[in-house]
Amino acid sequence: MSLVQLLTFRVLGDERGQLVALEAGRNIPFDIRRTYYLVGTSPSVARGFHAHRELQQVAICVAGRCRMVMDDGQIRRDVWLDSPDKGILLPPMVWHEMHDFSVDCVLLVLASDHYLESDYVRDYAEFQRLVRHADNTSLI
Ligand code: TYD
Repeated sequence: MSLVQLLTFRVLGDERGQLVALEAGRNIPFDIRRTYYLVGTSPSVARGFHAHRELQQVAICVAGRCRMVMDDGQIRRDVWLDSPDKGILLPPMVWHEMHDFSVDCVLLVLASDHYLESDYVRDYAEFQRLVRHADNTSLI
């Protein structure tokens, strides 16, 4: 599975403007149990810096832009989220960071579960240990 999995949403646009519909099991590949959004983030601030043990998420900049850094313990990629028809899948055990927020950025996140602090891996060294261990057990 590739580290960067971009989702492109159909835009239902007409002379009144644009509309994008997000539906669990259709264009969002999990059941949505939580949504949250980041607004008013200072451009000098970076957020995230964690992975999730089980949570799946899709992040979409519905306004403005930010740069999503993703890291599976072996490779690191960055992707600009800069359009409301573009989402990125954040699977479990992918370290992610958000950088370079524009002042008008509204980052919408859809999540497969409720907020659970125990699902977070916030220490990068621990994250690397966990992904290395998972790789070794899958080779046995
Ligand atoms: P934090 O994990 O620091 O955000 P980010 O990873 O984007 O930098 O979350 C900020 C605070 O909000 C922290 O106290 C946890 C809380 N929080 C919730 O209560 N519910 C949620 O759904 C999220 C994402 C965070």
